[in-house]
Amino acid sequence: MPRFTSLIMAACVFLAACGRDDRVSRGAVLYSENCAICHGGDLRGGGGIGVVGLNKVPPDLTTLAVRSGGNFPRGKVLALLDDYAAGSQPGRLMRPFAHLTSQDSKRIKTEAGRARVPAPQAALLAYLEASQLP
Ligand code: HEC
Repeated sequence: MPRFTSLIMAACVFLAACGRDDRVSRGAVLYSENCAICHGGDLRGGGGIGVVGLNKVPPDLTTLAVRSGGNFPRGKVLALLDDYAAGSQPGRLMRPFAHLTSQDSKRIKTEAGRARVPAPQAALLAYLEASQLP
């Protein structure tokens, strides 16, 4: 299973590089458990083959900032993660990511002001932001 191997390797490289950044490394684990099946172990998209009901090619998640004029779109990504947590994403028919919700919340600064965000979503956001191509 080359995809699985590359996923583990990417996670290891990432964890080694960011050992002290707990939030980012928690996000990397959440990513590999919940998102890599579609967006790929390297975040470059194009996975999800065999996911029943998937009607779009999962996009590359390393170019979110580039595609938003150079600024990582935190508010947009958080809104999407909230939709995933509620299971309301058409075309991304996995189980609802209920474990992306939590009582524990973090304060995050977004383009639309400050927001309180469940800790797992804050971790995923940090991981995605740290993974953007320049
Ligand atoms: C079942 C496959 C699948 C899974 C699992 C999945 N996604 Fe997606 N994701 C998609 C598809 C398909 C799209 C594009 C949908 C569209 O264009 O309407 C998408 C879009 C996105 C986008 C917007 C990308 C852009 O270019 O605007 C982000 C961010 C994202 N996903 C993050 C995640 C994260 C984080 C997870 C894990 C919590 C995740 N996805 C899990 C299939 C998936």
